[in-house]
Amino acid sequence: HKQEEKFFIGFSQCIASDHWRRTMLEEMKMELSLHPSAEFLYMDADGNSNRQVKQVREMLKKNIDLLIISPNEAHPLAAVVEEAYNMGIPVILIDRKTSSPHYTAYVGADNYQIGKMAADYIANALLKRKGSVGEVMGLPGSSPAIERSKGFIDQIKKYPEIQVKFQFYGDWLKEQAENQLRSHQSKLKGTDIIFAHNDVMASGSWNVLKELDLQKETKVIGVDALPGARAGLELVGNKTLTASLLYPTGGKEAISTAFAILSNKPFQKENVLQTVVIDSTNVELMKMQWAKFSSQQKDIERQKGLLEDQLEIYNNQRLVLNVIVIT
Ligand code: FRU
Repeated sequence: HKQEEKFFIGFSQCIASDHWRRTMLEEMKMELSLHPSAEFLYMDADGNSNRQVKQVREMLKKNIDLLIISPNEAHPLAAVVEEAYNMGIPVILIDRKTSSPHYTAYVGADNYQIGKMAADYIANALLKRKGSVGEVMGLPGSSPAIERSKGFIDQIKKYPEIQVKFQFYGDWLKEQAENQLRSHQSKLKGTDIIFAHNDVMASGSWNVLKELDLQKETKVIGVDALPGARAGLELVGNKTLTASLLYPTGGKEAISTAFAILSNKPFQKENVLQTVVIDSTNVELMKMQWAKFSSQQKDIERQKGLLEDQLEIYNNQRLVLNVIVIT
């Protein structure tokens, strides 16, 4: 087995304190464990675009070989990402994009498509093509918010009897979504369905509907569909949310693409991850798939442990053998 070159990968994350991004990092680490000689530098910008620009500059100074980045907002991060790219450092965008076309690869779902799918699901499965919707959007200026909204509105326009009653920015955050909905209460009444750009904001929307005793009249759908306590799958399973669109984190694919690029193997520029609507018809199946997947991950961890033990025994025996040969 040939030893891999010692690659140095920088990962600039826009914000760290949520379940979806922690899951992304776990997936990355799992894949990184297959490349023990690689070095990984991780920084998160806590939702601050200026800080993220500085952190990328710091990584460039430390001579990373490749940059993986999920840019907080598209415009503020464009220049520094282009700078890296023009220095000859491959750039992998994950989940969010910048406004620049200069990058090496993208890994993530098609956010325009997610918006469109949400509109079609709402129009056909929930509304029978007639009714009213409200949209709770992500952070203005972050590419998934722009693309999800554009896909949603483009598609909902195809249903002339569906009215868009409101659009608010919840900045991807639960509290922000709650505050926005609370301060526009009058618009909530008579809304059939709320499309929130993620499950966190969807659950915040549900909280406000509950406060106003509107939770029976107004349905809520979100995006992400993660497993885990109080995450999307659980909320769909207990009917808090009517549906959630799966948004894979791409952590594993970003790392495998990074190594393909670094070792001059073929790779794709656009790595579009699949999405699907999760509702009461398939949520149990999805939960089962995740449970199976996580038990397999644990098996892999266990086998890794056993392998390391074996290696230690082998090394000790070799030591003993050397001693015997010498004496
Ligand atoms: C997590 C998150 C997800 C959302 C994604 C969009 O930070 O807000 O909930 O799908 O970012 O970039």
